Amino acid sequence: MNKKRILFVDDEQHVLDALRRMLHGMRGQWEMQFATSGNAALDILQASPQDVIVADMRMPGMDGVTLLDEVRTRHPGVIRLILSGHSDTNTALKSVRHAHQFLLKPCKAEELMAAIARATTFQDIFSNEAVRTVVARIETLPSLPRTYLELMRELRREEPSLRVIGELVNQDVGMSANILKLVNSAFFGLRTHVSSPVHAVNLLGTEIIKALIISLHLFSRFNMDRFPGFSLELLWKHSLTTGLFAKTIAQIEGRRPPEIDDCFISGLLHDVGKLLLAANFEESYQEVLARSRAERRTVHDMEREAFAASHAEIGAYLLGLWGLPENVVMAIFGHHTPPSAPTPGFSTLLAVHAANSLEHELVVLNADYAPHPMDTAFLQTAAMDHRIEVWRKACARRLTEELHLE
Ligand SMILES: [Fe+2]
Ligand SMILES: [Fe+2]
Repeated sequence: MNKKRILFVDDEQHVLDALRRMLHGMRGQWEMQFATSGNAALDILQASPQDVIVADMRMPGMDGVTLLDEVRTRHPGVIRLILSGHSDTNTALKSVRHAHQFLLKPCKAEELMAAIARATTFQDIFSNEAVRTVVARIETLPSLPRTYLELMRELRREEPSLRVIGELVNQDVGMSANILKLVNSAFFGLRTHVSSPVHAVNLLGTEIIKALIISLHLFSRFNMDRFPGFSLELLWKHSLTTGLFAKTIAQIEGRRPPEIDDCFISGLLHDVGKLLLAANFEESYQEVLARSRAERRTVHDMEREAFAASHAEIGAYLLGLWGLPENVVMAIFGHHTPPSAPTPGFSTLLAVHAANSLEHELVVLNADYAPHPMDTAFLQTAAMDHRIEVWRKACARRLTEELHLE
């Protein structure tokens, strides 16, 4: 395996020395270089190709955001990470456009290593030519919701407090109202009235709350009036039900809670790329939908024809950028094009792929579009095809329970 080339940039030599010591153990896998200014970093990049650049936000002369912007133009294939201090929340939110991921200071060795490793795993997505072209054309890539960022800060503490997390959600009035409305709907089947965000966090856990914040944020940014051919409500329902189905499948397969959560989260977020494409390429996306209806071909295929990339890759790109877990991002990335040689057995991707098809099959919300068929060859190679019937029955049952409650 080729060593990954990582370039660290910080104006303070002692920070770089500390990084060098801290990451000493990674020498076998990484070839590391260190630069004390933006210009020095650009010289290194000019002289030798790098896979990842990790830059400090605050530097005299060329700051981190300017540097990464320069890197984006000159060396678009390099994965860009930014390190930001506590006082820079606003700049951090803005830097999303320039960096693939940002890390909060102080950053522990394991955290930094995990982020770099995750970024290199996503290199296929981040450096995919077609995806990059589409993303470069998106003028306003949504920024992370502020509440989410604050929540991540709390979660990084030694002992994060669920109460503080609930209060953070509570401070965002619109968000907290929407979360309460949702968790109290029949959909979650909680059979108890959830009266406060603190209560919701306690019942559902922080990972689910984080995913709800992201999806509500992305859906609320979308301007429906400008898009007559697109039903936000149907997409929202489809996303929720796909999340519910993926969770149901994971439960039936006896998976453990973190993986069950990942399945729900991936199902909930699997189609957010559609929002990005529709909001940013109105006319072409209208055409994609119209042609999909007229020619009875899937939206995914039509997107590939129009943009050379689909909502699956674009959504995965954004969520990878926002630091979502690897298997969630990979499940979203491949939900229409699962790998031809998967490792046998259950995976989040498999659950989401099956859940998405079952949703199209069992809930005929929009018969106008050609539904995406289940990839039986993929399920066969994963040796899970014999389970489809069990999942179909269980999902159908969940659906009637849900409707019954409503
Ligand atoms: Fe999809
Ligand atoms: Fe879908």
